[in-house]
Amino acid sequence: MTILPGLLDTEAIRKDFPILDRTVHDGKKIVYLDSAATSQKPRQVLDALNEYYERHNANVHRGVYTIAEEATELYEGARDKVAAFINAPSRDEVIFTKNASESLNLVANMLGWADEPYRVDHDTEIVITEMEHHSNIVPWQLLSQRTGAKLKWFGLTDDGRLDLSNIDEIITEKTKVVSFVLVSNIMGTINPVEAIVRRAQEVGALVVVDASQAAPHMVLDVQALQADFVAFTGHKMCGPTGIGVLWGRQELLEDLPPFLGGGEMIETVSMHSSTYAPAPHKFEAGTPPIAQAVGLGAAVDYLTAIGMDNIARHEHAITEYAVRRLQEVPDLRIIGPTTAEDRGAAISFTLGDIHPHDVGQVLDEQGIAVRVGHHCARPVCLRYGIPATTRASFYLYSTPGEVDALIEGLEHVRNFFG
Ligand code: ALA
Repeated sequence: MTILPGLLDTEAIRKDFPILDRTVHDGKKIVYLDSAATSQKPRQVLDALNEYYERHNANVHRGVYTIAEEATELYEGARDKVAAFINAPSRDEVIFTKNASESLNLVANMLGWADEPYRVDHDTEIVITEMEHHSNIVPWQLLSQRTGAKLKWFGLTDDGRLDLSNIDEIITEKTKVVSFVLVSNIMGTINPVEAIVRRAQEVGALVVVDASQAAPHMVLDVQALQADFVAFTGHKMCGPTGIGVLWGRQELLEDLPPFLGGGEMIETVSMHSSTYAPAPHKFEAGTPPIAQAVGLGAAVDYLTAIGMDNIARHEHAITEYAVRRLQEVPDLRIIGPTTAEDRGAAISFTLGDIHPHDVGQVLDEQGIAVRVGHHCARPVCLRYGIPATTRASFYLYSTPGEVDALIEGLEHVRNFFG
């Protein structure tokens, strides 16, 4: 058994995740290396969901009866937990959405409909990067098409990092918003937030951070980031699907217009016009994802009890080991940083000219679950001249033994394809 410094007690942790005991393909124990796509869920989260539906299910902010008040307390309690988890100055800055994509679309639409000084129009520029997930590209393309604003982006270096050499030409006086990913979902790169934020602040541009691959894996402190908006999703951080978060600075949330209209986001409605509730409710039209928020609250409790620093240390050790071992595999090319420094636990690679879909299929026959494809970050594949990658991604329950299983699995793939 490989022992690495900094590892968590995975034997104990794995007992919390019933699915990790599953077998596939005639008794092969599952080796789950696709946590960047979605994490597995601990018993504590499953129990919270069950308990909510069995004992407290009612709509929130409406009923005066006991279980409706309990549901409201649980839903708003989840908001408190998330606010503390990301060190938000106020709980009212935490908006619940469906997922990170919805959070990012919400910001793009707020800015598209905003008045000065936030308004994005034909005379302004939007800045993103070439390593964004499609969820942080397409909403800005849509906004650019609708408003005539120019869309610009930072390119990539050969080793999978942002090329900031021309930062002053990319972010200019015309830039209204800079939106970038904190940790790349395809390459694992951790981006230099400070340099980008500093330049954005110099020109008065708003900063949006996609923290989908950061919130599950490291301490996420929205005040330290100095961003204006931070988006992430629950299902990658041990929570259920169907719940995302948009954190935004309070004064912006007060000034910016809502995107979706409907129940619960209003103050008054007449047949002629409406006024809106204060944030966060202004941005949460309709019945929200109540059970999912409760589940996310339980996930936050779970991660907090283990400690985000401890989780980051564990993943760093596993990543360092995996990067080293993968580089020993003949014909394997890592797409992204080849050191464990400033990188997260998602590692993409190609294996000779074997198509990643074939790699994924042969690995699956051995019980190993990886993601293959362009990982919703197709510009990265275009940049490196490849159609797709195989991606292994690790989390708090991952073990060095699972890295070894992947390496053996890849040997098998190489033998299979000669
Ligand atoms: N965004 C998820 C991934 O990277 C689905 O796999």
